[in-house]
Amino acid sequence: MKILFAIVILGLTFCAQASEGALPLAEAEVDVFDLPSVHRGAAYFADYCMGCHTIKHLRYSRLAKDLKLTEAELRRDVLGEGGKFHDSLLSALDREDALKWFAVAPPDLSLIARARGADWLYSYLKGFYADSTRGTGVNNAVFKDVAMPNVFWELQGLQKPVFKKHDGSEVLVGLELAGEGKMSPQQFDRAMLDLVNFLVYAAEPGQFDRLRLGKYVVFALLFLSVILYKLKKAYWTDIH
Ligand code: HEC
Repeated sequence: MKILFAIVILGLTFCAQASEGALPLAEAEVDVFDLPSVHRGAAYFADYCMGCHTIKHLRYSRLAKDLKLTEAELRRDVLGEGGKFHDSLLSALDREDALKWFAVAPPDLSLIARARGADWLYSYLKGFYADSTRGTGVNNAVFKDVAMPNVFWELQGLQKPVFKKHDGSEVLVGLELAGEGKMSPQQFDRAMLDLVNFLVYAAEPGQFDRLRLGKYVVFALLFLSVILYKLKKAYWTDIH
């Protein structure tokens, strides 16, 4: 019965993937407690994403506290000199302008890691490829006809799609680098993983507190078991 269930679930996931018509997702080795990585990810976010996207649910002050940074350090890497420390991560982009330029407003990314999952985000960020039929000049391997431009083409280098004929239609089977970027593929993967770590953290900043609390709970339980053990021994010595 269990096996049957597993097969059905597996079948369903394959169907879901197939129906998207996209490449299989790359696996993101998320480690949200790798603070230097989340820190670097936040800096990338400020430099490359905040021109268009917001993270309304996260404040700079909270980010600084969670990353164990002083206000000055956070200003240096993420916020800049002019910004307000107690503000959320907002974008200066005007909604009307955005609609004019992209036809879609760039969504708030507060909960995107929960909505899409880390693997999807990682694949999306690595998945832009040249497509001359699009206004932005690019398409995306996991988000067909996306309105977002490729903000990392200089770092990554431009990617070209590899198509194969399948049942008479062209199917995307892979991507290949057509020109060198400022980063090596390994460096670029690392940078995108940093960004994904940051977005996973941002979707639930409370997870740091939970971990800290969890440590206290485990400690308290250990302490309690030692006391109970001693107590048990004390009782039994009388009986023996
Ligand atoms: C020049 C503006 C611009 C910049 C800069 C930008 N984006 Fe976007 N982004 C968009 C637009 C517009 C969309 C909506 C695309 C659509 O729906 O077709 C979008 C969509 C997305 C989505 C998909 C959301 C969904 O619907 O699931 C993600 C994830 C995303 N962006 C992440 C990022 C990240 C991370 C960065 C920084 C590395 C970034 N974006 C930089 C404009 C931008």
